[in-house]
Amino acid sequence: MASNSKQSLHMNPGQGETSYAQNSVIQKTAQERMKTLIEEAMTGLYNTATSSSPLHQKELVIADLGCSSGPNALTLVSAAVDAVVVHRRHCAGVQQLPPPELCVFLNDLPDNDFNTVAKSLAALKQSARPAAMVTAGMIPGSFYDRLFPRASLHLVCSANSLHWLSTVPEELSSGAHLNKGNIYVGKTTPPAVVRLFRKKFREDLSLFLALRAQELVSGGRMVLTFLGRKSAEMLSHGDVGSMWELLAQALAILVQKGRVKGRDLTAFNLPFYAPSVEEVTELVEESGLFDVDHTGVFESTWDPHDDSAAGDDDEVADCARSAENVAYCSIRAVVEPLIAGHFGEGIVDELFEVYGTVVAEHLSKGRAMYPVIDVSLKLKGRLSSRIQHSDSRTL
Ligand SMILES: C[S@@+](CC[C@H](N)C(=O)[O-])C[C@H]1O[C@@H](n2cnc3c(N)ncnc32)[C@H](O)[C@@H]1O
Repeated sequence: MASNSKQSLHMNPGQGETSYAQNSVIQKTAQERMKTLIEEAMTGLYNTATSSSPLHQKELVIADLGCSSGPNALTLVSAAVDAVVVHRRHCAGVQQLPPPELCVFLNDLPDNDFNTVAKSLAALKQSARPAAMVTAGMIPGSFYDRLFPRASLHLVCSANSLHWLSTVPEELSSGAHLNKGNIYVGKTTPPAVVRLFRKKFREDLSLFLALRAQELVSGGRMVLTFLGRKSAEMLSHGDVGSMWELLAQALAILVQKGRVKGRDLTAFNLPFYAPSVEEVTELVEESGLFDVDHTGVFESTWDPHDDSAAGDDDEVADCARSAENVAYCSIRAVVEPLIAGHFGEGIVDELFEVYGTVVAEHLSKGRAMYPVIDVSLKLKGRLSSRIQHSDSRTL
């Protein structure tokens, strides 16, 4: 039995029916909402640049962390490039300067399908001309490690990724604590296990903030979205928790059928955590590194193709079809590599078929929504000597 390490965490590669590329419409919604925050962050960057160090004459460096592959991979960096071009168009005197030089970096874990990303990068560079000169690179690695040189980035974006922990809490993967058949925080999860997930998220997000604070220029920006909770109450995960409780139910059905070993289910937990806005704000404040420009929560329906979701009606028009969209496509595209790595590829088709049935039953009680948190942060004025070398660049 494999452990669910960070190496197994990547979205389904390629362009096939169950690939992330074909099944990332929900995540696209969150990215679309980030465009305004990215524009504001860019305008903020230009506005805080000093006259002795005008940003218009500098190259800008932009990174998307957890880009995955497919149509979403370039959305955020493209939005940042567009924001720079539009901003310059509205600034008197800037048009006479040479086109801006922008360097965009796309990061994900090494198992990500970077081949597909590489092909779309060439198109981005081409389409930006002549308004901007774009160079691009891919940075495989964990965003819980240092990825970039000190004080080298102006804008960091990350969509739909920071709810993934660096690893399952060690005390769970070692078997020192058990999660009673849950794979994340469920109704029967022991309080000690809830605390382990929470602690791991606190450690990971604090580390992420400290690492990015080293890599951003002073005054640099971060725009982030990730799945979250609407309430600070830990067990009020609502539908984000249910999504994983239903997957645990589907796995339990396969255990009953003798298709999955009970001990394999006991040993499986997701490296996942959905925080509340309060938790995120508290950690940012505790870090002392960033000012919070914006926080918000919005909700996305589980089935992005459910047309009936546009109205006020809470009923899902076609539960079976929606469940298929949710289970077979959206969730499978995200967790199949983790599931296959732990339980073996042989159970994947059957598991997501059973999951579809369980999700359909759940949707028959009413529409399910994912809360998504968005955050915009600004690195505080001057970095302390603790994290900045004397040769670092400032705006
Ligand atoms: C749901 S996808 C989001 C992809 C894209 N940003 C979007 O919005 O559609 C989450 C991505 O985060 C990546 N990811 C998770 N943990 C990571 C880590 N520690 N370092 C880098 N990428 C990570 C996953 O591999 C995956 O590609």
